[in-house]
Amino acid sequence: MKLSKLLVAAAATMLASGSMFAHKTTPDWIRSAVFYDIYPCSFMDSDGNGIGDLPGITSKLDYVKSLGVDAIWMNPIFESGWFDGGYDIKDYFNIDPRFGTKTDLKNLVDEAHKRGLKVCLDLVPGHSSNQHQWFRKAATEGKDGRYADYYIFVDSISDKDKKDIEKRYKTPNPQDSKLGLWVPTKEANPGEPKDGKYTGEYYYRNYYPCQPALNFGYANPDPSKPWQQPVDAPGPKAVRRELKNIMAYWFDLGVDGFRVDMAASLVKNDKDKKETQKLWNEMREWIDREYPGKVLISEWGNPSQSCPAGFDCDFLLIHRSPGFKQITRGTSPGKSVGKDAYFEKTGIGAYDKFVEEFNKQYLASKDYGYISLFSANHDINRLNSEGRDTPDQIKTFMTWLLTMPGVPFIHFGDEIMMRNVKGLPSVEGSREERSGTRTPMQWDNTKNAGFSTAAPEKLFLPVFTDGGKLTVATQEQDPNSVLNHVRRVNKVRHDHPTLGNLGDWVTVSDMSKPYPWIYTRTSAEGTYVVALNPGGKAVKATVELPEGKLDCLLSDGKTSVKTTKKGTQFSLGGCSSAIYKVVK
Ligand code: NOJ
Repeated sequence: MKLSKLLVAAAATMLASGSMFAHKTTPDWIRSAVFYDIYPCSFMDSDGNGIGDLPGITSKLDYVKSLGVDAIWMNPIFESGWFDGGYDIKDYFNIDPRFGTKTDLKNLVDEAHKRGLKVCLDLVPGHSSNQHQWFRKAATEGKDGRYADYYIFVDSISDKDKKDIEKRYKTPNPQDSKLGLWVPTKEANPGEPKDGKYTGEYYYRNYYPCQPALNFGYANPDPSKPWQQPVDAPGPKAVRRELKNIMAYWFDLGVDGFRVDMAASLVKNDKDKKETQKLWNEMREWIDREYPGKVLISEWGNPSQSCPAGFDCDFLLIHRSPGFKQITRGTSPGKSVGKDAYFEKTGIGAYDKFVEEFNKQYLASKDYGYISLFSANHDINRLNSEGRDTPDQIKTFMTWLLTMPGVPFIHFGDEIMMRNVKGLPSVEGSREERSGTRTPMQWDNTKNAGFSTAAPEKLFLPVFTDGGKLTVATQEQDPNSVLNHVRRVNKVRHDHPTLGNLGDWVTVSDMSKPYPWIYTRTSAEGTYVVALNPGGKAVKATVELPEGKLDCLLSDGKTSVKTTKKGTQFSLGGCSSAIYKVVK
């Protein structure tokens, strides 16, 4: 038996369903949830200033509900310095005025709950803005100041680190650049230091220079480096308490959970992530005790580590998951979509690495939580990128996303095939590569695609409707639109929980002939078959399936199936997909 077949066979026995979760209070709703992610600046502008806001989102909740999703995740809405799209937080307990007020958030949460939708916010524990009061006080009040150990300071750095800082100043936007781990404290302008000297001349950044790392300590502190404090030193312990305070504050307002930014980054020098896992286990135990039923979703990129650490779901990240990259981007560098991406009409891609990776992650995480796959997000190109630019291709991808085990995330606008617009300026730290996936939602064919009444040049980013085709209003009218396809697949997923997280997942097609990809989803309730052909040419494949007639639950009319002596033969037109139920 070939290795690929072996892997599939192994997966067949290993992918058992109905796992028992280690977290005591994982709520039922997440087991069958589909999430919709919203970049708040870009969803709906209620006050005509060109930037989206909370009342705008609330006004569109009926639409969100109509997609058949269960929950929303919003990127950060807290007071921010806006050098990294809201991920540089100035005050964790306040809503940024551009989005509205706490009352607006409460109203959004209440209205969402009335419609049966859950609301998760974005928690950014790894770093604050360098404009945060904690940082300003930490930097200026000296080593004995209350906040000194909330961050990591040193007085001198290596020549290499100095050179990195110089290089950064030569880049177009030094604030956006990630060069150099240490940042000169004076660059943050934290105010006059007490006794004329900053607490440290340099601080450690977590992402951009404007994002000083909050100090959760070091896994194996080197005694010769006094800034490396143990995780249970007073500073790191105080920061843990702050983290709980922040979560408690928003849980008390009624939010259902958090997506946690860079969740693996908290404890430094923690190669095997053991200390970071312990930290999150502590948070989980506290949530289980104080806020049962709230969810944590990590941006960690390794469910085998994050789910046992206490997360309910974890994203596979393109840059850490060669298999997920193989099918969504291919071998092209960076985030662009290459011609050999599996989900590309060229039809020259493969999915073997993905299957291997997914199965490994699934086995290691299934007793604790779920893997989250996504269509795109505020960092990652939209589905409609480069050659992946036809409705049929996008529909095929959505059929796949929404019939995989786990908790899938749809990036706002991907359900209407919004285009990943290229060549836009970097706005608020988006860098050009991320601007294309943050453009405003396109509602209708009025001014600014119905997003805002502002003058077009005032918009956060421009709209691009492709002559009015890529709007909600246009696609509502067309039964074959991507929008209506997404609604249909979501309905099929919810009507048949085996297609969600009840059923195991087994690839039954031959991985060495990757088009089409055919897999089954099986539970005690029954067996389902999903057939996908992302390539542009018609293809056929014969596979062995459990006995029974195939009832078609969803098809784009380009697929057919017949029983032959060798098994069940699927014929799929170019860029097509179908879902069947095996009826005995
Ligand atoms: C990951 C977020 O998704 C990204 O947008 C942000 O720039 C970094 N973390 C830093 O917070």
